Amino acid sequence: MRDRLKDVYNIVQEVNVLDSQDAANLALLSRPELGVTFTKLHCWRLVQFEKCVFLDADTLVLQNCDELFEREELSAAPDVSWPDCFNSGVFVYKPSVETFTQITEFAIKNGSFDGGDQGLLNQYFADWATADIKKHLPFVYNVTAYASYCYLPAFKQFRDKIKILHFAGKLKPWLLQFNSESKQVSVSSDYAHAKDLIQLWWNIFCDKVHQSLSDNMQTQGTASSDNSTTHKSFNNEAGLAGALSQLQIGQQRSPEQEAYENLMRRQCWESGQIDYSGADSFDNIWKKISQTLEAKPAEKEADQTGSS
Ligand code: GLC
Ligand code: MN
Repeated sequence: MRDRLKDVYNIVQEVNVLDSQDAANLALLSRPELGVTFTKLHCWRLVQFEKCVFLDADTLVLQNCDELFEREELSAAPDVSWPDCFNSGVFVYKPSVETFTQITEFAIKNGSFDGGDQGLLNQYFADWATADIKKHLPFVYNVTAYASYCYLPAFKQFRDKIKILHFAGKLKPWLLQFNSESKQVSVSSDYAHAKDLIQLWWNIFCDKVHQSLSDNMQTQGTASSDNSTTHKSFNNEAGLAGALSQLQIGQQRSPEQEAYENLMRRQCWESGQIDYSGADSFDNIWKKISQTLEAKPAEKEADQTGSS
């Protein structure tokens, strides 16, 4: 995966995971997986650059945003759920080892009120709400796509002005139901207003990313030592990239491929309520897929009625 990233990015810098390990505050957000977003702090160490714009991996840039580099640290857009805080999915900052050290020391001392980087950075850059309006980016630089976070009439009114869309929240484009044969994504009502933009995400994935994935792309932490139930065409040690590499895009689906996609959809894609580290971890999903594909038809039916 690092090699693939190197094909498109100038620098691919590996960093250590920083984890807040703050289960109590993460529970308030119902997002136990967000402790590792402290890893984001490493961006301050890119001191070969004078100024940077940080983008979450769940953002989609829709228009050129070069003008952001005219802003100062720390510039960000308001968070929709609490506009006196900035959302930390998009921000302008100035790399500095000193700032990195100060923020990490601040984190050790004060923690983060949401257990993730957004709480921490809002505590550290505490005067953002009041000190300097130039540090408030217009919302079009970080538009939250999820309906419960979204003001729908405004979304409709200003959608052509959106520069960066942010799939904040649990339901990500890659977890939605996608038909590999028709190349169409199905969205739930929570995303209906943004269907064409989610389709755009999938079009980019199909045209530019899918062909460079392979099923041996192991994601750290998802490897399993139990290979005994692995179906020969599916590799249960592959992570999300490996799983997505198995989609046969634009081709007529074999019964096996259809079973694979249906299982993916049923167990993970379909639901926004994903427990990445527990029942819905990829290890478990792969085991389930492999077992179902290997089971005799009668067992499959019994299992489907039993577990649905
Ligand atoms: C919000 C932000 C995201 C951040 C997370 C944890 O979801 O959008 O960027 O990582 O909070 O603080
Ligand atoms: Mn995000």
